[in-house]
Amino acid sequence: MSPFLLTRQLPEDATEAALRADVLHGLTKSPKTLPPKWFYDAVGSELFERITELPEYYPTRAEREILVDRAAEIAAATHARTLVELGSGSSEKTRYVIDALTDLHTYVPVDVSESALTQAGHALIEERPGLHVHALIADFTGRLTLPDTPGPRLVAFLGGTIGNLLPAERADFLAGVRALMAPGDALLLGTDLVKDEGVLVRAYDDAAGVTAAFNKNVLAVVNRELGADFDPGAFDHVALWDARNEWIEMRLRSRVAQTVKVPALDLAVDFAAGEELHTEISAKFRKEGVHAELSAAGLEQSHWWTDREGRFALSLSVAR
Ligand code: SAH
Ligand code: TRP
Repeated sequence: MSPFLLTRQLPEDATEAALRADVLHGLTKSPKTLPPKWFYDAVGSELFERITELPEYYPTRAEREILVDRAAEIAAATHARTLVELGSGSSEKTRYVIDALTDLHTYVPVDVSESALTQAGHALIEERPGLHVHALIADFTGRLTLPDTPGPRLVAFLGGTIGNLLPAERADFLAGVRALMAPGDALLLGTDLVKDEGVLVRAYDDAAGVTAAFNKNVLAVVNRELGADFDPGAFDHVALWDARNEWIEMRLRSRVAQTVKVPALDLAVDFAAGEELHTEISAKFRKEGVHAELSAAGLEQSHWWTDREGRFALSLSVAR
C-alpha cells in the first residue's frame, strides 16, 4: 500500500446535487438558512486556519494545551493502531496524538475539503515515514466506509465541531460514530464549554473581521457553484449568544431590501432590509450534558480533561 491514499466517498456530482437541494430548501423557508458544510471550499479552509490564530478565538489554543498535556495518557489508554479523525482540517493539533501513539499503523483523516486533506496528508507522511495515511473525502454526517486497518481504533473529533450540529443531528452523528467502532475502541471528543457571553461572542465576531469573511464565504460558494449573484458586501456578519439553547448563532443580515438570483435553481430570493440568513450554530457544553449524549450513543466516558482556564474540554470514551 502506498503511504498516502485519497479516496472520494462523495461523488463530484452528488456534492453538486446536495448543494442544490440544500440551497433550494434553505433559501425558500423562513427564516432562511444555508448549511455549514458549504463553508469549507479551499478559501473557507484557509480562512478557518486564520480564525484559529486570532487572539479572540481561544478554542484552538485551549484544545492544543490539553492535547500537549494529555497525549501520553491518551496513547496509554487506547494503544490505537488506527486513528480516524472526522473533520480533520489541517490535522495540526492531531500531531501530538499521532506522535504519542507509538504503535500507530494508519491515520484516516476525513473531511469535505480536498485541499485541506492533501496538504495535511503530504506533510504528515514526510514527518512520520512508515505511517500509512488514507484520507477520505466524505461527509461525516453520512454513512462512512472505513478502510480495513488494524485495531484498536481511536476516533477523534476535535475543534468543537460537534457543536456545529443541532442536538438531534448530534444524536444521529454519535450513533453513527459508535457504529464505526468495535467494543473497546475509543472516541476522543473536543467540546467548547459554556462561559462568559462576552468571551464567546468575541470568539465569533473578531475585531479583524476574519470570521465575518469566513461566514460570507458561503455566499461566494453559492455564487460560484450555482451562478448566484449574492453581493457579500450587502450583508453584515452577526454572532449572538442564545442563552436558552446555549449556542452561538451565526447569521448574515441583509443591509438593504434586495433580490438575489440563483440561475441554477431558477430562483429569485427576496430579502427584506434587516432580514437575517441563518448560517451556523456553535453549541457550548457542560460536563453532564456531554456525558449524557455519549452514554445515549453507547459510549462510556472514561476521561474528562480541561485546559487550565476551564474553557474547553477533551473527553475520552469507550465503546461498550
Ligand atoms: N479539526 C480541525 C478543523 C475544525 S473546522 C481543528 O480542530 O482545527 C471543521 C472541519 O470539518 C473543516 O475542516 C471542515 O472542512 C470539516 N467539515 C465540516 N463539515 C463537514 C462534514 N459534514 N463532513 C466532513 N467534514 C466536514
Ligand atoms: N467548529 C468551529 C467552531 O464552532 C467552527 C467555526 C469557528 C465557525 N468560527 C466560525 C463556523 C464562524 C462558522 C462561523 O468554533
